[in-house]
Formats: sequence, C-alpha cells, structure tokens
Amino acid sequence: MNNLIFCVVVLAVVNALDNGLGRTPPMGWLSWERFRCNTDCLNDPDNCISEKLYMQMADHMEQDGYLAAGYEYVNIDDCWMAMERGSDGRLVADPKRFPHGIKFLADYVHSKGLKLGIYEDFGTHTCGGYPGSKFYMELDAQTFADWGIDSLKLDGCYSGIEDMKDGYPIMEFYLNKTGRPMLYSCSWPAYVVFSGTIPNYKSIANSCNIWRNYADIDDSWDSFKGIIDFYGNDNGSFSSFAGPGHFNDPDMVSLKE
Ligand SMILES: *[C@@H]1O[C@H](CO)[C@@H](O)[C@H](O)[C@H]1NC(C)=O
Ligand SMILES: *[C@@H]1O[C@H](CO)[C@@H](O)[C@H](O)[C@H]1NC(C)=O
Repeated sequence: MNNLIFCVVVLAVVNALDNGLGRTPPMGWLSWERFRCNTDCLNDPDNCISEKLYMQMADHMEQDGYLAAGYEYVNIDDCWMAMERGSDGRLVADPKRFPHGIKFLADYVHSKGLKLGIYEDFGTHTCGGYPGSKFYMELDAQTFADWGIDSLKLDGCYSGIEDMKDGYPIMEFYLNKTGRPMLYSCSWPAYVVFSGTIPNYKSIANSCNIWRNYADIDDSWDSFKGIIDFYGNDNGSFSSFAGPGHFNDPDMVSLKE
C-alpha cells in the first residue's frame, strides 16, 4: 500500500510541466482577433498576414512602451504557411507573404528584446485549411526550435477530442525534446467545452503553459461579455488549476493604432 502511494506521488511530480516558462501569466499580441486569415497582400498590404505585419507590431511593442509594460510575445496565428509542406516534409511559410522566412522574422523580433510565437494545429489541417501537425509532430517541434520560435499555439481543428488527451501531451514531449524552451498554448479544452463536457484541467495543466477554454474573441461587446461570463461561471473550477507555469487563457485582442 505504501509503495502504491509512493508511485502515485512520483508520477505526479514527473508529470508536471516544468519548462521554466509562464511563471506569471504571459502577455503579448496575437494577430487573429483583428487580422484573421487575411492573405490578400495584393489589395490589402497593410492588413494581411505577412512578415511586414509582425515586424511592424514588434516595432510598436518596443517603441510604444508595451514591452516595458511586460507584453513580450509577438504571436503569429493561422494562415502563415504555404498550402503544402516542403519536399523534406517540413512546414514552409508562404513565400510571397514571408519572403525571408520565419527564422529571419524570429531574429528581427529577438533584436527588439521580444519573443516570437507561432501557430499550428493538432489535426490534419489548421482551421484555415493549411497543413496540420498530425503525423508530423516531432518534425514540426524541431522546425520551430530551429527557427528560434519561443511559443506555440496548437489549435484543434480537423481532429477529435478523444485523440487530444494523448496527442497534446505528445507535442509537449517533442517540444521538450528539442531542448529549446517554448511556451505551449493548448486549444484542447476549448474543443472539450464546445462538445458540452468539462475538460480534464489537471492533465491539461500538466502539459500546457496556457490553454484556451472558450470561443475566439472578436470586435464586439457580446464576444467580450461572453468570455467574462464564462470565466465568471468557472464551470469545472478551472480557476483552481491556474498557477505559476500554467494559466487559463481568455484570448488576446490585437488592436491596431
Ligand atoms: C524538459 O523537461 C524537463 C523535465 O520536466 C525540464 O527540466 C526541462 O527544463 C525541459 N526542457 C525544455 C526545453 O522544456
Ligand atoms: C457546465 O458544464 C456542464 C457539463 O458539461 C454543462 O452541462 C453545463 O451547461 C455547464 N454550465 C455552464 C453554466 O456553462
């Protein structure tokens, strides 16, 4: 009996996510709320998902005092990729919109003292229809590390919630294996909530630094209030799972000037 208790305690310790990141709630800027999947750089060059957008935001975050106030992550969301992986199986950024590639962008963002976050999806495709990480998790984690990425948002389109409870921790394993600390943001509980059940927040907190558990925010009071209400209800007592290294994420706004 004593042995059994000992094993349980050891497992609990081994399971806790310990990548040193997100000791306080991480702060930054994410493109989705304002810029969505706008890929039309021909007609809308100032608002399309492109390296220029993230470089401008990095400039603003440094020059306008956001970095000094603690907003350190510049986060890319969906629609940054080319529609196909490269011949080596690796993800590639859209060559027209990111002509210098993601490594260049990471170097630029780092030169400002900021960090670069990127987006992928746990399923076969991202929500916008770009290549997902299913069957490629190890390679994608390594690719992100090679590029100098500091944070990964892993969405959950084109997959099932049954797969997520094993799959999201596997990505955490591969992120860790790269040796590069990358903040891990999981959309896993949001999909569980949308299915009408209560997420297993304990195992989510064991694998993820932050996690989305409700709908995307948009430019409306209704959206904002819906998120406030959801957090006020605290269904499943998710507030009790927040602490250094692991936090609930009510989503990020991305205002522009
Ligand atoms: C990997 O996990 C180990 C054990 O939790 C931890 O000590 C280490 O800092 C992690 N490394 C990275 C790069 O996340
Ligand atoms: C709380 O979760 C339960 C189970 O998933 C669900 O039936 C109920 O509608 C939720 N309540 C609120 C206020 O969201």
